[in-house]
Amino acid sequence: MSKAFKAIKVTDNVYWVGAIDWGIRDFHGYLTERGTTYNAFLVMADKITLIDTVKPPFQSELLGRISSVVDPRDIDYVVSNHAEMDHSGSLVGVIEAVQPEKVFASSMGCKHLQEHFHLDREIVAVKDGESLSLGNLGLTFLETRMLHWPDNMFSYMPEEKLLFSQDAFGMHLATSERFADEIDESLLEYEGSKYYANILLPMSALVTKLIKKVGELNLPIEIIACDHGPIWRQDLDKIIGWYAKWAEQKPTNKAVVVFDTMWFSTAKMAEAIAEGLMAGGAQPKLMPLKSNHRSNVATEILDAGALVVGSPTLNNNMYPTVADLLTYLKGLKPKNLVGAAFGSYGWSGEAVGQVRGMMEEMKIDLVDEGLRIKFVPNDDALKQCFDLGLRVAEKTRGLLEAA
Ligand SMILES: Cc1cc2nc3c(=O)[nH]c(=O)nc-3n(C[C@H](O)[C@H](O)[C@H](O)COP(=O)(O)O)c2cc1C
Ligand SMILES: [Fe+2]
Ligand SMILES: [Fe+2]
Repeated sequence: MSKAFKAIKVTDNVYWVGAIDWGIRDFHGYLTERGTTYNAFLVMADKITLIDTVKPPFQSELLGRISSVVDPRDIDYVVSNHAEMDHSGSLVGVIEAVQPEKVFASSMGCKHLQEHFHLDREIVAVKDGESLSLGNLGLTFLETRMLHWPDNMFSYMPEEKLLFSQDAFGMHLATSERFADEIDESLLEYEGSKYYANILLPMSALVTKLIKKVGELNLPIEIIACDHGPIWRQDLDKIIGWYAKWAEQKPTNKAVVVFDTMWFSTAKMAEAIAEGLMAGGAQPKLMPLKSNHRSNVATEILDAGALVVGSPTLNNNMYPTVADLLTYLKGLKPKNLVGAAFGSYGWSGEAVGQVRGMMEEMKIDLVDEGLRIKFVPNDDALKQCFDLGLRVAEKTRGLLEAA
């Protein structure tokens, strides 16, 4: 067991024993520019309890941190709040090393864990609202179905006023600091919004409901111990308020113009559209896909009012990176957007119609059927692009007035 890793005290009885993944850059299609952490927590109650584990390559880091407090074999209970591999991947190894008396999960969690690991031991299912005594301390479980998997649950510890919130309220951010109050607020808001936009956005209605439900339960909460990024022990209203705001998806006059291009005709169109947007009072943000990852586009769209998508035609199809983006965005189900499609083509020009079709499926309110320009745009064509920008700006104003 490595002696290099140390646990970090969260309260007198709770320790952070997770892992810091400084190097990860691709988290299932999400560009994790600042790495991430897999947080796990050791509760030093009469029944010593481990909350969650970590991604498989970090198992020895987890066990090392636990060992800095207690012999891992002294752990009585393991609680698995979520069956996704970043939290359960080393569960089998941990069970082997720890030999816990019991392992707990939600009923869907039990199913998912079996479907992942085909275990030869029982996982004890706990119900929504059920409490588990750890002797001097206790845990109450709160199912958070579909946030963001069917099995997710929170574990609440009343004695410490501490909510183990699993993926919720987390962010992909590797830092040496363990607490949000030690980290620059604008960085927290950006990485928090990126996490929300790329993971929780499709479940926004459930997020709103959950915030309401937790409010009604009136649980005193002083610490939110999430499973990625920093732990919140001050100003909890900040992260909860951000979640309420993001879940609303209230539009602004930001217009995200995203495109790819082979010979820069579609790029020229994008620039002229941006000029029209600005002239119309909108705030365009140009995001060429050669230099912007799909997950950063999703983040910018979170508070935008307009999405304008451009693609040249390549072999009778939209450009592959644009198809990638639209497939990704469609799954995230962004709301409250107006938009338009555009692109340059040579002879058959199918791309703009295909982009428009995808945007219609996404229920984006389009200004028209989209703008196609043959090969390199001349001044007239660029004026048409400028006018398209003006029309999108105008429609965005209408959206903001209605919101
Ligand atoms: C490999 C290749 C395949 C293409 N296939 C089509 C096509 O099937 N239909 C079409 O209308 N144009 C096609 N084009 C023409 C481009 O759409 C045209 O050059 C357009 O102006 C490119 O816009 P861009 O400068 O934004 O890349 C093709 C171009 C290339 C390089
Ligand atoms: Fe997850
Ligand atoms: Fe996670």
